[in-house]
Amino acid sequence: MPVILGGAATSSDTIMLLWRCGPNQTAPSPRHAFMSSDIKKQHRDSFTSSFGVLAATLGSAVGLGNIWKVPYLTGANGGAGFLLIYLLATLAIGLPVMIAEIAIGRRGHANPITALQTIAPHQGPWWLIGVAGMIGSFLIVSFYSEVAAWVFAYVIKALGGTLLSSDPNVTAAAFEALIQHPLRSLIWQWVVLGLIGGILTMGVTKGIEAVTKRLMPLLFLLLLVLCGVSLSLEQAATGLAFLFKPDFSRLTTTAVLTAMGLAFFKLSIGMGTMMTYGSYFKREQNIPVTAFRVMCADMAVSLLAGIAIFPAVFTFGFAPEAGPSLVFITLPAVFSQLPMGQAFMAAFFVLTAVAATGALLSLIEVPVAILHERLRISRRRATALTLTLLALPSAGAALSQSLLANTRIAGLNLFELFDFLSSNIVLPVGGIFIALFVGWVWGRNNFRAALSNDGLLANQQLANAIFILLRYISPILILLIMGKGLKLF
Ligand code: PFF
Repeated sequence: MPVILGGAATSSDTIMLLWRCGPNQTAPSPRHAFMSSDIKKQHRDSFTSSFGVLAATLGSAVGLGNIWKVPYLTGANGGAGFLLIYLLATLAIGLPVMIAEIAIGRRGHANPITALQTIAPHQGPWWLIGVAGMIGSFLIVSFYSEVAAWVFAYVIKALGGTLLSSDPNVTAAAFEALIQHPLRSLIWQWVVLGLIGGILTMGVTKGIEAVTKRLMPLLFLLLLVLCGVSLSLEQAATGLAFLFKPDFSRLTTTAVLTAMGLAFFKLSIGMGTMMTYGSYFKREQNIPVTAFRVMCADMAVSLLAGIAIFPAVFTFGFAPEAGPSLVFITLPAVFSQLPMGQAFMAAFFVLTAVAATGALLSLIEVPVAILHERLRISRRRATALTLTLLALPSAGAALSQSLLANTRIAGLNLFELFDFLSSNIVLPVGGIFIALFVGWVWGRNNFRAALSNDGLLANQQLANAIFILLRYISPILILLIMGKGLKLF
């Protein structure tokens, strides 16, 4: 009996010991050992130089938006008049919200959810901004990665010479053959997502920073070459007049609100992207100066893209208001008529692919950072999980021109729906709450301390002015954009 009791006592002791200790407290499994050291080591993997900060942040802002959206909208809405309003909107809304996001991210020193919890504990569920950002990321990546997929496919087509035709009917047929083919759409989308995922698993320094540091100069170089070619064409002056000549009679209320919406999308604000990147900023980085530089450089890329595109479009007699099809249908036909057209066409699509890559890295980094830090899993696993979660919505967007062409919600196919929801609801609502958070919760002193690097920089007056914008002006202006987007007035 005592033996049995003794034996029972011994085995239950062992069970209790295992239970209490668990795998983490006794001998950790190699996987757990890797995970915890990986998190500790990579926890605050960050940008290492000022140029790295600039390249990555500019890489996020510069994207597919610059290449066709800004030039086209500028041309269609009165040229320089629209540009002026876009610039004002960028200064009054875009820049303050961008600065706010970066400041929150750097102060919180973590992904958007944790950062907001850290800097304003027990002050309400402001961390939900981070959750909304994650949802926004999924929505935008789903359709954005499909446009990027077409661009990447076009790089190969341009290099192979298969797009060379001066007949837009032929280039239109080539474009439709790509987007209406379910498997091709999906495969190219996963080529892009796989590439971005691969870069993200390498980390912030060795992945995002290293790649954008190389790609951004390449982008400017290609853009300048294409501008040179375009400006040497016969109708260069007509193209430039279309882009820059102010025509205030075409500046409608809708155009003003469109310009404000554009400012939002262009600077990648309202969904935690800049907050996430801000958390990788160096302590001594001057936030307002960096944000201002990014804004100016982003604007320059948009203008240069317009200068590269419109003189060529006019010279060969095409319609400048072609919108989305301008890039995939009109431009191949334009390039086909240039001497060395194939090389310039390839350069143009490489340039666009580069722009899309930087933007996608920042978009997907938002959920990756959240999952990596919140679930305490490695970056590799967080990236794999993010891509798995993306599989369904991104397939929905990819197939919206083929198998799911008849799946419509409120008259929109899935691609259009994701675009609509993100641009008109998620980003503006995020922007309003970010501005309100800084203006009414975080407060003037904290904001000023964050922008002045705790008093090391003498930018108190500037911080005050930005604070006033965030507290009063930006939320009201953003509400106007939303009202327009949702057709409330
Ligand atoms: N700014 C990018 C562009 O203009 O194409 C798009 C974008 C990137 C929007 C990242 C939002 C974001 F978080």
